Amino acid sequence: MKIIEKVDELRSAVAAARNDEKTIGLVPTMGALHGGHRSLVERARRENDVVVVSVFLNPTQFNNKEDLRTYPRTAQADAAMLEECGVDIAFMPTVEEIYPEPDTRVFDLGPVAQVMEGAMRPGHFNGVCQIVSKLFEMSQPTRAYFGEKDFQQIAVIRAMAHQLGFKLDIVQCPCVREADGLAKSSRNVRLTPEVRRVAPNIYGTLRASLDFARHHSVEQTHDWVVATINAWPEMEVEYFSIVDGTTLQPVASWDDTSYIVGCITVYCGDVREIDNITYKQV
Ligand code: PAJ
Repeated sequence: MKIIEKVDELRSAVAAARNDEKTIGLVPTMGALHGGHRSLVERARRENDVVVVSVFLNPTQFNNKEDLRTYPRTAQADAAMLEECGVDIAFMPTVEEIYPEPDTRVFDLGPVAQVMEGAMRPGHFNGVCQIVSKLFEMSQPTRAYFGEKDFQQIAVIRAMAHQLGFKLDIVQCPCVREADGLAKSSRNVRLTPEVRRVAPNIYGTLRASLDFARHHSVEQTHDWVVATINAWPEMEVEYFSIVDGTTLQPVASWDDTSYIVGCITVYCGDVREIDNITYKQV
């Protein structure tokens, strides 16, 4: 595995691969790698000749500076995991290398980017699009891999790629969970032991709501999920939205559309956890 820190070096490595007509799989990450990231990397390994994984804690997508300051940084362990997975290139640049001058680009991606995370975290998706568009441009991937844990992020990146005319496949990968159901996340290490014990009830409640939804309306299901999770004193739902899985816009009835997903964020102490569940996919 090559560890590359310079953009020019990345460009020449992928240009050589492209010349040899090799396929390139890109997995963008912010490091603090866990089993969720690993599943994306392993899939990219199976499906491409050359695998590039970027490890870059992108400052422009953090609307909360405290979140950026406390985000776990584990570069050495990350490199070791990537090596073990048979990655060809670990791209681990500095902030100055990626942003030699401030990125002033403003993306307008329409309704998919305006709801939920777009509404709660102003500027977040703009920063995600800044870095992901740069990574697409620098590594010219055949395929790029993203996790369904960040459900809305995939829709936003699809919209960005379409708008900018990137020709690549965006591969949507299932969410990987701990044995107790908690979605794996780099931020889980920040949960206190007490909160870590109750946090699996987020997914537990979402799972139970699949059954509840069969005999109740969208609105009743929404209210039941929020009330059930808020009954744990350690947890507070920020939002729960039951949306069309393609447009990300709220649905009023289970018959509205053929793809329905419930997206939730919950404050577990001061850690913000995100999760989702599919109610309907035809
Ligand atoms: P990060 O949170 O490091 O996640 C990198 C990729 O791993 C994302 O596509 C995310 O959805 C996926 N992922 C995280 N946890 C997962 C899990 N439990 N199961 C499956 N996939 C999981 O998302 C980002 O970084 C950034 O916004 C990024 C796209 C890299 C741009 O900076």
